[in-house]
Amino acid sequence: MSAAVITVETQENLSQKLVIQRPPFGLSLQGRIRVPGDKSISHRALMLGAMAGGDTQIQGLLLGEDPRSTASCFRAMGADISELNPEFVRVKGIGLGNFSEPVDVLNAGNSGTTLRLMLGLLASHPGRFFTVTGDSSLRSRPMSRVVKPLQQMGGQIWGRNGSALAPLAIQGQALKPIHYHSPIASAQVKSCILLAGLMTEGQTTVTEPALSRDHSERMFRAFGAELSIDPETNSVTVTGPARLYGQKVIVPGDISSAAFWLVAGAIVPGSDLVIENVGVNPTRTGILEALALMGADIQRENEREVAGEPVADLRVRSSAMHCCTIAGDIIPRLIDEIPILAVAAAFAEGTTIIRDAEELRVKESDRITVMAQQLNKMGAKVTELPDGMEITGGTTLVGTDLDSHTDHRIAMSLAIASLVATGTTTIHRAEAAAISYPNFTATLAEVCQ
Ligand code: S3P
Repeated sequence: MSAAVITVETQENLSQKLVIQRPPFGLSLQGRIRVPGDKSISHRALMLGAMAGGDTQIQGLLLGEDPRSTASCFRAMGADISELNPEFVRVKGIGLGNFSEPVDVLNAGNSGTTLRLMLGLLASHPGRFFTVTGDSSLRSRPMSRVVKPLQQMGGQIWGRNGSALAPLAIQGQALKPIHYHSPIASAQVKSCILLAGLMTEGQTTVTEPALSRDHSERMFRAFGAELSIDPETNSVTVTGPARLYGQKVIVPGDISSAAFWLVAGAIVPGSDLVIENVGVNPTRTGILEALALMGADIQRENEREVAGEPVADLRVRSSAMHCCTIAGDIIPRLIDEIPILAVAAAFAEGTTIIRDAEELRVKESDRITVMAQQLNKMGAKVTELPDGMEITGGTTLVGTDLDSHTDHRIAMSLAIASLVATGTTTIHRAEAAAISYPNFTATLAEVCQ
């Protein structure tokens, strides 16, 4: 078998075209690879490190654009964060409540996690005034999901559309604790309120309709916060004001990035790929369950616990794939993996149904519409549903001109789809991948043999 020809063309405006030419007799994916650090854990390590007393050392931080946005916002409020490096980052904490008032607008770039989590912290910082914004995608994403509960706590926040859209202005206040029943299972909402609770005298509780990722809870505890969890009701309570102490954080590989290789290995015939050091926190492993339901052959090897998070090596070998239905409580545990699951479904036999995933419409792009449009351009049979997709697999995918819509997960999902498409696929605005996976193209070239 011959290798795929993969080229990147950078345009004058710095936008990149990723061109993938599959060899006529196909290819297979082989090797042992590592994926970059977990994005959710990287954000939280930088934030808690900045809020703690003493030094925090971070190993394995994701060097993507999103954590860079978090680091630059916290530096602008006085945190001393060393140069970002996956080997080692040192954060000299300034202590909870000690952030300085930034002299300029805090820019969260493309990162919803940076903006939403930071809002909890800013709103509960008495005596300081903050302004926050983001790129055009982030400025169109709903902020009322965090602004409303913060306002219930007494937070003062102003912005367009009744404070629903960034740019936002925040006058920090001493807040009052609340018990917030979130209408959506969202780790960003939960973490925002809990961060505000760290600074707030008394007990702040968040109850969510289904369990979302619990990295904040794990890290809050590791840094010394008093936290209680009621798994029966999906409730978390933090007692404030908290004192946080700098820690050593080891960031595992991001399962959301590993997901691209898991699907590629499953659908490209003859593949045998090991992805080492992947975080397998049960609140994130919905993708493994969904792929198992579809007949994927994925083994966990070398399971261990690293700095409070479960980690494993994942071995995937290609297999016959069939349809499944993905809906309900599993959705928050695989929400970021639905674009790449749609690629798996386009390849699998039968009609896969994805429901209860309306949240996809307010991610970095409308991931339901964009995935349906782009996969259909390749000859797939995808029908949009208000809260998901119906995907009939087994059609021949044909390489063509595609667009990431500046969404990192769309760019990478389409690149994986191109591995089972005939001819040449061109993905426009492919530079978006660097938001969460800066070396994606290099690894793609490495594993495609
Ligand atoms: C994240 C939570 C999820 C996820 C996002 C990262 C986090 O968002 O989609 O990529 O780190 O807390 P929601 O909380 O909006 O579901």
